[in-house]
Amino acid sequence: MKKLVNVADFRASAKARLPRMVFDYLEGGAEDELGLRHNQDAFRKIKFAPRRLVDVSVRNMQVDILGKAASAPLVIAPTGLNGIFWPDGDIALARAAGNFGIPFALSTASNASIEEVANAATGEIWFQLYVVHRRLAELLVRRALAAGYTTLILTTDVGVNGKRERDLRNGFGMPMRYSVKTILDGVLHPRWSLDLVTHGMPQLANFASQDVQDTELQAALMSRQMDASFAWNDLKWLRDLWPHKLLIKGISRVDDARRCIELGADGVILSNHGGRQLDSAIAPVEVLQETARSIAAPVFIDSGIRRGSDVVKAIALGASAVLLGRATLYGLASSGEAGVNEVLSLLRSEIDTTLAQVGCPSASQLNPDFLWKRGDSFATEPHTVDPVSA
Ligand code: FNR
Repeated sequence: MKKLVNVADFRASAKARLPRMVFDYLEGGAEDELGLRHNQDAFRKIKFAPRRLVDVSVRNMQVDILGKAASAPLVIAPTGLNGIFWPDGDIALARAAGNFGIPFALSTASNASIEEVANAATGEIWFQLYVVHRRLAELLVRRALAAGYTTLILTTDVGVNGKRERDLRNGFGMPMRYSVKTILDGVLHPRWSLDLVTHGMPQLANFASQDVQDTELQAALMSRQMDASFAWNDLKWLRDLWPHKLLIKGISRVDDARRCIELGADGVILSNHGGRQLDSAIAPVEVLQETARSIAAPVFIDSGIRRGSDVVKAIALGASAVLLGRATLYGLASSGEAGVNEVLSLLRSEIDTTLAQVGCPSASQLNPDFLWKRGDSFATEPHTVDPVSA
């Protein structure tokens, strides 16, 4: 088998194993996928200004993430329907993260339940909340608390679903509908199909196991529409409900970040959902430095991270850690937990090499001075990059 040496190789391997409609769900962005490409371009445009004659014989990428030591400045991002990429995908991701020494974030839309993942996890687990219905949200938060999750993430950029045209064309949805096209797609990807037949169609486990008595809640569950009315005033309600660390995900503006902290959040996750929601949104890395300078709380970032050097750039610009979305999903879809381990290892190796190359022995010593600057802030230069979704 061909040796897979970077995230792009794992992407190709995932693409080969998954049926087209499943890969498109993993990969796809909203509308014209400008945001999907722009997220990666924005990282590529940032250049290093390496320091020489620094002793980098011993390097350390350990960081503190919300008061706990992590082996690298990485977190596995919450992603829904991980079970369609690999059987028990949520558990595979949680175990790989735990063994690697970084947190794993479980999505509300997971295929293993809050409790199942808590029982199987080997490390720190965070829970990501979608507010489908206020009362359902409260039940989920209480379950996460009882199961030992240490951090709650509120995702704020999915009041309504983005227009993902690949999914619309493929007729992708839950439950998956069978057509001649999808059956043929399955036949052409026998390794994936065999896993599905052996393990069964993944379910939204947190909802399936929820004992819901009243009809209003049942209707909310059936429609699975988000509560688009959830706004700033509701943040206090959530803050009062959750006694541990609370992060707000989907933030793209400094003033919003500031407001989150004023209302009691412990940090923010700059994110545009990997370009899956609003197509022409700014890339989170474009507001990272300003946000990190403006709030006295941890700033996390995701969207577009595919290289160890992207991670180093984000930390240099002030991020506490980065969340990995598609990068680790490519590993999962390629070869399950072993694939996630490999992606994490290769990113660790790339981070290590980059630290040595820029002349910074420790990730915790990174700062914007390691980046090429023009004027007051780090500089970017226009350049053309090939489309990512070839
Ligand atoms: C996501 N993302 C996401 N976010 C979230 O808060 N809850 C969720 O259930 C999901 N589901 C989901 C599914 C898939 C297939 C993807 C690719 C992404 C967004 C995710 O947490 C993260 O913000 C992005 O993936 C980051 O961008 P990159 O790393 O994929 O470019």
